[in-house]
Amino acid sequence: MTDFENKTAFVTGAASGIGLALSQALVAHGAKVMMADIDAENLAEAASKIGAPDKVETIICNAAEQASVEAAAKATRDRFGSVHFVFNNAGVSLAGRSGNIAIKDWQWIVDINLLGVVYGVEAFLPAMQAHGEGGHIINTASMAGHFATGYMPPYHATKFAVVGYSEALAMELKGSDIGVSVLCPTWVKSKIYDAAVGRPSVDGKPDESSKTNPVYESTKALVDNGMSAERFAELVLISVAKKRFYVFNDPEARGAIDMRRDLILADYDACLDDLKDIT
Ligand SMILES: NC(=O)c1ccc[n+]([C@@H]2O[C@H](COP(=O)([O-])OP(=O)(O)OC[C@H]3O[C@@H](n4cnc5c(N)ncnc54)[C@H](O)[C@@H]3O)[C@@H](O)[C@H]2O)c1
Repeated sequence: MTDFENKTAFVTGAASGIGLALSQALVAHGAKVMMADIDAENLAEAASKIGAPDKVETIICNAAEQASVEAAAKATRDRFGSVHFVFNNAGVSLAGRSGNIAIKDWQWIVDINLLGVVYGVEAFLPAMQAHGEGGHIINTASMAGHFATGYMPPYHATKFAVVGYSEALAMELKGSDIGVSVLCPTWVKSKIYDAAVGRPSVDGKPDESSKTNPVYESTKALVDNGMSAERFAELVLISVAKKRFYVFNDPEARGAIDMRRDLILADYDACLDDLKDIT
C-alpha cells in the first residue's frame, strides 16, 4: 500500500485504542502523523510506543472545543505542511436509560462525538481543498450508528448523526479529490467502556457509578474480546486506499442492517397504504 507514503495525517483520540492503532499503522505505511488527544499522559506514552520522532508529533487537543481543534490544525500544518488524511476519531460512550441521563452528559457526548467530527472537518477541509494534493476525511461512527439498542440513547444518537453527516459530506465532495469514509465497527479492543467515568454530571470527580450500569459489564466483555485495534486499523487503511465509504468489521451485523431496513420499509408501505384512504 503506497498511498500513505510521505503524506500527513491528523488523528484525534490517538492516545488509545483505535486512534493509537491508526497512528501506528499510518506510520508503518510511511505517513507523518499528528497524534491529538485530551489525555496528555497516555498521549506521550502512545507516541513513545510508536517511537518514530521524525514522523510523529503530539498535541493536546480537546475535540469538543472548536478553538482547540483549529489550533491543532494550524500546528499540524506548521509542523508537516499539507494535511492529506483527517481521522475524526475521538469519542466517548455513555450508557443509561432515558429519564436518568443528565442533560449535561447529553451535551458532553454530543460535543465530543458529533461536534468533534464537525470541528475536524471545518478546521481541515478548506486547506485540503486549497492545496490540491487530494485527501481523505475519515469519521469514526460505529455500528451503533446503524441500529439502536435500548441502553445507550446518547451514544446511538451521536453515532447515527455521524453516519448521516458523513453521508452528506460525501455527497458534497463527490467528484472532488477529497474522499470520505465513515467507520462503523463493533467491538474493537479499547478503553471505550470507561469513558463515562469522567462525565460532567459528576463534576470531574472520580466516579465509578457508570460501572454499575446494566450494560457496563456486558459491553466491557464484548470490547475486551473484540477485534484487535491493529487489525481494524489495517482494514481502515485498506478501505481508505480503495476509497470505500462505509467501513464495517462485524460479520454478524448484516442481520441488524437488514432488520432495520425491513422495519423502515414495512412502515413506509403501511403509510402509503393508509394515505390511499385520506383525501
Ligand atoms: N472500541 C469499540 O468497540 C468501538 C466500536 C464502535 C465505535 N468506536 C468508536 O471508536 C472511537 C475510538 O474509541 P476507542 O474504542 O478507541 O476508545 P478509547 O477510549 O480507547 O480511545 C478514545 C480516545 O479518545 C480520547 N478522547 C476522549 N475525549 C476526547 C476529547 N474531548 N478530545 C480529544 N480526545 C478525546 C481519549 O482520551 C482516548 O484516548 C470512538 O469514536 C468510539 O465511539 C469504538
